[in-house]
Amino acid sequence: MYLHGNSRRNEQGHLEIGGCDTVELAAQYGTPLYVMDEQLIRQHMRELVVAFQETGLKHRIAYASKAFLSLAMARIVEEEGLMLDVVSDGELHTALQAGFPSENIYFHGNNKSPFELEFALEKEIGCFIVDNFTELEMLSSLTEQRGQSTKVLLRVSPGVEAHTHAYIQTGQEDSKFGFDLVSGQVEKAVLLAQEAPYLDFLGFHIHIGSQIFEMKAFDLAIQKMADFIRYISEKHQISIRVLNVGGGFGIRYESDDQPLTNREYLLTLAKFIKQHFTHEIPEIWVEPGRRIVGEAGTTLYTVGAIKEIPGIRKYVSVDGGMADNPRPALYQAKYEAMLANRAFEEPSEIVSIAGKACESGDMLIWDLQLPPVKTNDLLAVSCTGAYNYSMASNYNRLRRPAVVLVQNGQADVIVERESFDDLIQQDRIPNRLMKKEEVSL
Ligand code: LLP
Repeated sequence: MYLHGNSRRNEQGHLEIGGCDTVELAAQYGTPLYVMDEQLIRQHMRELVVAFQETGLKHRIAYASKAFLSLAMARIVEEEGLMLDVVSDGELHTALQAGFPSENIYFHGNNKSPFELEFALEKEIGCFIVDNFTELEMLSSLTEQRGQSTKVLLRVSPGVEAHTHAYIQTGQEDSKFGFDLVSGQVEKAVLLAQEAPYLDFLGFHIHIGSQIFEMKAFDLAIQKMADFIRYISEKHQISIRVLNVGGGFGIRYESDDQPLTNREYLLTLAKFIKQHFTHEIPEIWVEPGRRIVGEAGTTLYTVGAIKEIPGIRKYVSVDGGMADNPRPALYQAKYEAMLANRAFEEPSEIVSIAGKACESGDMLIWDLQLPPVKTNDLLAVSCTGAYNYSMASNYNRLRRPAVVLVQNGQADVIVERESFDDLIQQDRIPNRLMKKEEVSL
């Protein structure tokens, strides 16, 4: 398993993260347990900040909170001076409850409800990334009714689809997100936004995918946007002040993955921007999520049942699975893992790690090399910081694990493990299903 950030094998032969022995963490907080390396999160943010400064471009960096959000995470983002991208009233509420400055919050999403728009207007958030005509209409009439101005970007579907190792260019992108560039929707949206008296139209947003290694897709998308911005600003005499190029920077899930460094990503993006904008370069915004938290997360599991089918496969079951990490089941995502309690032992067998949900599809890792694994061993799965806790569910009425933030030997719970009471807190029993002794007199 590739050891990210502040992870190492310590003198006890255990995996240590942020100066905390994972065997002790598991004993203290139980498993499954998400462990987040605070310094690595901050390091990613700082590297992005420094690299962007190096490009000389006017810029902003937002953290895409869908990757992982909690009150403490919002505090870290604020301390590091980043903006925050939210996509729902729930993310917005969390950020506001953490005291995150509302003017530094940007609201994304392809189907913001009238309630969400009003909530965000009420809180005077920094910017709406308007996705479609329905939202544009709703937001312009709401702002008129309220007599309140707000900044907007228009999300553009640039017709470039990014994949992890390849890219395809589609004439007309088949996507639920954004105004379509090819069919002229964007120009129409620009004119509507310009006409709306309370919308302060700043520019455009694109997001071409996630876990991207292949920079060619960014190159193409930026080229298309530069051409379009030149066209639209000359034709309508408007100045486009912002181009948000989204997130999507890939990370190292497996030892063989070779992602660019934060600096390389941003310098490469800057190179494309400087190449393609022959006219004035707008302020460039980015909004990475996975890049900031992905590698910083490790999930600890306790090994339970072991089943060997001779000549076929050895299944090693752990006390979590698709409920705390749905990515293997959803996207065939690959992960690496090691025995955290026997960190120096050489791998000698190939096993497959099964989750505990009642589904054959709940397999975390196929064909993993491990030392001879035994019940009660501690398994650490790396790179689970992004889209794990945030996509976790209570399937099978499993309780969502705790999240512990570690740094310099200190561990703090930032999300408590759910309790049995949490599981039934929202349940209600209608009167007709009450037992006699429960019916109040
Ligand atoms: N901006 C927008 C508009 C986005 O839709 C996303 C991610 C991001 C930024 C952040 O992208 P990142 O830097 O994290 O790649 N659940 C999937 C990933 C979905 C990404 C959705 N949008 C997964 O687990 O791989």
